[in-house]
This record gives sequence, structure tokens and C-alpha cells, in this order.
Amino acid sequence: MSENDNRGEVQELAQDLPAGFDGEYPIRIRGLTNAFGDFVVHEELDLDVKRGEILGVVGGSGSGKSVLMRSIIGLQIPKHGCIEVFGKDITDAEPDTVIGVRNRWGVLFQGGALFSTLTVAENVQVPLKQFYPELKQELLDEIARYKTVLTGLPADAANKFPAELSGGMKKRAGLARALSLDPELLFLDEPTAGLDPIGAAKFDELLRELTDTLGLTVFLITHDLDTLYAICDRVAVLADRKVIAVGTIPELLQTDHPWIQEYFNGPRSRAAATSHERSQDSGKALDKSHGGEA
Ligand SMILES: Nc1ncnc2c1ncn2[C@@H]1O[C@H](COP(=O)(O)OP(=O)(O)O)[C@@H](O)[C@H]1O
Ligand SMILES: [Mg+2]
Repeated sequence: MSENDNRGEVQELAQDLPAGFDGEYPIRIRGLTNAFGDFVVHEELDLDVKRGEILGVVGGSGSGKSVLMRSIIGLQIPKHGCIEVFGKDITDAEPDTVIGVRNRWGVLFQGGALFSTLTVAENVQVPLKQFYPELKQELLDEIARYKTVLTGLPADAANKFPAELSGGMKKRAGLARALSLDPELLFLDEPTAGLDPIGAAKFDELLRELTDTLGLTVFLITHDLDTLYAICDRVAVLADRKVIAVGTIPELLQTDHPWIQEYFNGPRSRAAATSHERSQDSGKALDKSHGGEA
């Protein structure tokens, strides 16, 4: 197949994609209630996610962060409430409508498991084959190679199996798979859990860069304080079955909820804040030494 054939196929693919979302909030949640039997996880929960932001989502273990993410992507049917994604209520949408928005988000689940019997490239191709079964193998390979390199992996990682990769490389491969459909929305559930601090910081940096260059909106569940300080535009706090507060960290510090105070005013948070300030200061010093144009 010639290169031109490929190009034709890419153009056809682009025409099939829905237009980009131009509203302010790609995700709007109102009055969300989720329960397992009598056990209520969320009760009348509200949340808006702004276009282009990285929203950090924090809360104690079992507070319902993963269930919230699963509700937004339609894997958990809520008891009540409305969840709008790209302006469409997905809780009572026709299956076709849900399919219409499903290719506009990418997901990295908690634990981020790749299929262990598939190579990185084959893992990245799973969502592509699902949504675009007509794509030719040559093009699938090309897209997988591109996504692999996009997430900072060496090109030859595409042909490796997950077991041959380090922890940090596996997370990048998971991110490559989440980006396979060129999503506008990205959901990540504790993506840096289990990484050493240097690996985690590099992943954060990559995520911020990709968010800005690809124009993504990111729903990022994390309990990594360094991540919250370094790359999150706002942070939503889950407690008492609701989002009890959402804002920048300085804004959150002004609320007097005990969980927020303990979390953001504890010694670990202060250490993360100091190290963030220090890295910002050294960034500024670097800017100056380059004439402030860096
Ligand atoms: N499929 C399920 N069936 C029953 N209970 C569940 C299910 N999924 C989650 N839960 C419960 O809901 C609560 C919130 O879970 P989860 O969202 O996974 O918490 P986390 O904030 O740690 O991600 C937990 O108490 C969990 O045990
Ligand atoms: Mg979880």
C-alpha cells in the first residue's frame, strides 16, 4: 500500500470523528447518587470539570473516587442524578449516543493493566480495532508507533511485551493506549501509584505537557501530593459521599473541613509544597539566566 492510500484512510477517519467540544465544562455532574444495595457511596454529588484543566481528585481510601470515574464513563449506572459529558446526559442516553461520546475519552484504570500476552503496539491497537475495525494493519502499526513515541517510550518498546518493561514504562504504555483514539478527555486512576518519586515526577511532567499540547481535559485520581502541587489546576475533594470542595490548593486551604486541613496541612503536604516552590524558584532562576525567554 502506498503512503497516499494511508492518507486517504486517515482523512476518512477524521471525517467520522465528532466535532470538538467548545463548551466550558466537558463534564457536569448534578445530584449524583450511587449505592451498592444499602451502602451509599455518593449522595447528591455535584462536580464540574473545566475544559483544558487537569482536575486532581482526592479522598480517603473507599471514598468513591473510582466509582465516580466509572459513573462518568458509563460503567456504573447511578441511582439518581445527571452526568453530562460533552453536553449529553449519558445516564439516560440511548446506546448510540453513548457510543458517540465513548471514542472521545481515554481511560487508564487503577492498576493500569496492559494485556500481558500482547505487545505494547498491540495493546494500543485494541481500542482502535474496536472503534475502527476497517483500519488496515499497516495504519494501525503506524498509529501505535506514533502513540508509543508520544508518551516518551523508545520506538522499539512498541514490539515489547509488558513483562519486558519497567514500572514507569508500563504506565507510559498504558497512557499510549488511553490516547489511542485521540481523546479530548482523559481519565487516569492513580497512574503513578507504585512508581518511585523520580519516575512519578517524570510521568507528571509528561502528562502536563501532553495536556497542554493536545488540548486535553484530564480527570486525575491521585493521592500523590507532589502530583497535586506540580500539575493540577484544581483539586476536588471527595468526603462524606460528596465533593466537599473544589479549587486550587490555596483555595482549599481556606476551608476548615478537618479532612482537608489534615491532608493539605500535614507534614507530607508541607514538604510537597516546599519542594514545589523550590522547583519553581529554580525554574525562575533558569529563566533569568536565559534572558527570561525560556
Ligand atoms: N462493584 C462494587 N460492589 C460493591 N461495592 C463496591 C463496588 N465497587 C466499589 N464498592 C465500594 O464502594 C466504595 C467506594 O469504592 P471506590 O470508588 O473503589 O473507592 P476509592 O475512593 O478508594 O477509589 C468502597 O467502599 C467499595 O468497597
Ligand atoms: Mg480507587
